[in-house]
Amino acid sequence: MHNVNMKQELSTSQLFEIGETFLQKFNSVIKHSNFYPENHPILVESISNFKQYLKEIFQSFGRLHINIYEGEVYLFNRFVPDLGKSFEKLVSFLETRKVNEISILPGITEREIYDFAKSLTEKPENIEKAGGLQTRISNLGITHISVTSSSPKKEEEREEEDNDFFGISEETYIQAVTVIKKIAFQYLSGMPLDVREARQVVDNLVEKVLQNPDALIRLSILKNYDEDTYYHSVNVMLLSLTLGASLGLEKPILSALGLASLLHDLGKVKIPQEIIKKATSLTRDEWEMMKKHTVFGAQALLLSPNLNKICAVVALEHHLNVDKTGYPSLPLVKKPHIFSRLVQITDVYDALTSQRPYRKPTLPDNALRLIFVQSKTKLDPVLAKQFVRLMGIYPVGSVVKLNTQEYAVVVKPGKDDITRPIVFVLLNEHMQKYEQPFRVNLLEEARKGGKRHSILEAVDPAKVGIDPKEYVVPHE
Ligand SMILES: [Fe+2]
Ligand SMILES: [Fe+2]
Repeated sequence: MHNVNMKQELSTSQLFEIGETFLQKFNSVIKHSNFYPENHPILVESISNFKQYLKEIFQSFGRLHINIYEGEVYLFNRFVPDLGKSFEKLVSFLETRKVNEISILPGITEREIYDFAKSLTEKPENIEKAGGLQTRISNLGITHISVTSSSPKKEEEREEEDNDFFGISEETYIQAVTVIKKIAFQYLSGMPLDVREARQVVDNLVEKVLQNPDALIRLSILKNYDEDTYYHSVNVMLLSLTLGASLGLEKPILSALGLASLLHDLGKVKIPQEIIKKATSLTRDEWEMMKKHTVFGAQALLLSPNLNKICAVVALEHHLNVDKTGYPSLPLVKKPHIFSRLVQITDVYDALTSQRPYRKPTLPDNALRLIFVQSKTKLDPVLAKQFVRLMGIYPVGSVVKLNTQEYAVVVKPGKDDITRPIVFVLLNEHMQKYEQPFRVNLLEEARKGGKRHSILEAVDPAKVGIDPKEYVVPHE
C-alpha cells in the first residue's frame, strides 16, 4: 500500500478489502468501548489494532475518508458495492447518529479513538442534545477526526474538497505522471505528440501555485525516491513552476515554463535502459550516448506542431552551464535561455535528492548548499539564490534533529527566517514517538523567548523511521 498511485489504481475488490478491514477494526473498538472499562487489555488492544491499520492507510492515502449514505459505503469518494450490506448493523448504527462522513487524519491518538468511540455509544438523543456528534467530539478536544451528516458529494465537489484539504491532491501528481508517460510512449512509437492533456495538467498547477506558493513543493515530496524519469520530470515541473511563480512570472509564461520543464528529459526514453540504470560509471561511449538525450528530445519537440519552440530549447540547453561548460556544445549560444537556466537548477536539485543506481539521495539541505556553491560557476547566480531562498534550507518534508535532541519534520517554511521553519515534533530525545506530536513555530518561539527549539541538522528520514509524506501532505 505504499504507492501514490494507489487510490486511482485500486480495484473495487481491493477497495472492498480495505473498507472491510477498517470497518471490522472500527466496529470492535466501538463494541469494546461499550463493554469494557478504559484500561481493559481487550479494549486497549483493539484500539491499538485500529490505530495501526489507520497508519497503513495514511501511508498510502494521506488520510481516511469514508462516507455512509442510504445504507451504502463510499471509501475515498468511491462507491464500494456490497460493503454497506456486510456491515448493515454498524452502518445503521452510524446513520441513526447522523454520521454520514468520517475523516481521520494522521497524528490521531489512542485517546482520541477512545473518546470518539465512547461518544458514539452515547444515546442518539444525548448526542443530539450536545449539539451533534461533531460538536461533542470537538468539545472533547478531538482534532484528528471530523464527522458530518452531509450526503456524498458530486464528482466536481469532491475534487474541490480534496484539493482544499491537501492544498492540492495526490491525484494531480498521478495525473501528471500519467500524462508524461503517454507522451513518452507516443514519442517511442513514432506517433505525433499530443500535449493537450499535458497542457491541462500544467494549467491546473499554475492556478494552484498562484493561489498558494507552497502547494507544489508539498506535492513534490510525494515522488518516489528513485531514478524514474517520469517522476523526475513531474518534480522538475513542480519545482520550476514554484520558482517561476516566485519570480512573478505571469500565467501564460508559467504555462509555457511548466510544459517545457515537464518535457525537458523526453529524449531520455530513447537512451538504452542499461545505460540509465547502470550502477557503475559510464564508459566514454555510454556517456556520449547519455548526453544525446538533449538533442533527441529537442528534435522530437521541434517537430511537434502546436508546441511552443521554447520546449525544444529547454530540452536542448538544460545541461548547458552559464560558464559554457556542460553539454551539448553549442558555440553559437551566448547564454542559455532563462527557462533553460531555471530548469537546470530544479533539475540539479531533483537529481541530487533522488536515489541513483550508484549513490544514495543527498539530503535537501546539502543539495541546496551544493546549488549555492554552483551559483558561483555553473548555475545562474540570481536564479540559484532565489531557489535556495525559496526552498528555505530545510524544505518542507525535511526531517531535522533539534537542539533538544528531538526529531521533527518541517511542515512549512519559515516566513522571514529560512532557518526557522514550522515543524511537527515527532520523536523525543530517546527517539521514541510522541503520543501526541506537536507543532512548533521555530520563529515565533524564538521571538517570544520561551522554550527555544532550534534545528541542529537535517537527517535521513529513513534512518529515524519517519515518512515525511505522512505529515506534510495533509497538514496545513
Ligand atoms: Fe536531462
Ligand atoms: Fe532532468
